[in-house]
Amino acid sequence: MKLVVTGGAGYVGSVSAARMLEAGHEVVVVDDLSTGHADAVPAGARFVEGDIAEVAGPLLAEGFDGVLHCAAKSLVGESMQDPAKYWNGNVVTSLRLLEAMRDNGTQRLVFSSTAATYGEPEQVPIVETAPTRPTNTYGASKLAIDFAITSFAAAHGLAGVSLRYFNVAGAYVAPDVQQLGERHAVETHLIPIVLQVALGQREKVQMYGDDWPTEDGTCVRDYIHVLDLAEAHLLAMEHAKAGRHSIYNLGSGFGFSVKQVIDTCRQVTGHEIPAEVAPRRAGDPAVLVASSERARQELGWQPKHEDLASIVGDAWAFASAGRGE
Ligand code: UFG
Repeated sequence: MKLVVTGGAGYVGSVSAARMLEAGHEVVVVDDLSTGHADAVPAGARFVEGDIAEVAGPLLAEGFDGVLHCAAKSLVGESMQDPAKYWNGNVVTSLRLLEAMRDNGTQRLVFSSTAATYGEPEQVPIVETAPTRPTNTYGASKLAIDFAITSFAAAHGLAGVSLRYFNVAGAYVAPDVQQLGERHAVETHLIPIVLQVALGQREKVQMYGDDWPTEDGTCVRDYIHVLDLAEAHLLAMEHAKAGRHSIYNLGSGFGFSVKQVIDTCRQVTGHEIPAEVAPRRAGDPAVLVASSERARQELGWQPKHEDLASIVGDAWAFASAGRGE
């Protein structure tokens, strides 16, 4: 297939684009480099630097089979302070993309959605039929795009798939491949922060609350390796059905607490990693664990890197090689 990957200079987008290329597809990356890095665009992909809302029309007129839409604003805290950035950057931009796809007959869309569309869950593991009550603007903006995809599938025959990611981690660090991983200017995610402490770039990690209703009092999350996520993108692109919008949760199905993550990072890195308890972070649910049964059954997806130590190990190989900066 001939594919466009938006956000292909970012973390999930670059690893997914690399997987598409490995599977023999032709890839054009579109990225405005607002948070991505030009050197993360996978070798073998054509790179178009620019704003999707402007670039999508002329580019898709060349004739493409599908779009993998990973470009997004994705900081929960920022989305609460500057909501317009999220309604414009995520919703308006995605709508322009959908219109360009409709106008140019681009059939397939795989969209990077998020567990943040569910908000505080009533039940875990979370299934796709669970209520969607996002507690932040980031999640609400992604949910709005999901609704738009549903209506474009019904009205225009779009083959849409939304993938709701849980906590993505790890890196693509195999020998003889372009090393791809997490490099955020503003880092808010637990595993990269803990590894920065191990590298001496931060003094300590703060654990946001130890009085949550969980076994050890810290929040529990479902960590998924970015390579397993990339595989799901490939399967989703291949399985997308005209006139249908399918939604899949993607996690490994296992929950790990903040304390367990820090302990695993200590074991993997051999560093002490000082940690202290800090106040709870606004908007954090206590437990987020995915049921990915639907993705396993319908897409034949089978995560291969579920072990937290191997996820952290790959993230560490990337960060300690100086690439996480
Ligand atoms: N945490 C700390 N200290 C830190 C950073 C995080 O204790 O310095 C805790 C958080 O409170 C949370 C857990 O570690 O309990 C994981 O936090 P992350 O920021 O790594 O991830 P989130 O679960 O908050 O966020 C993820 C995705 C978001 C998505 C959200 C909800 O990264 O994109 O899940 O689905 F919006």
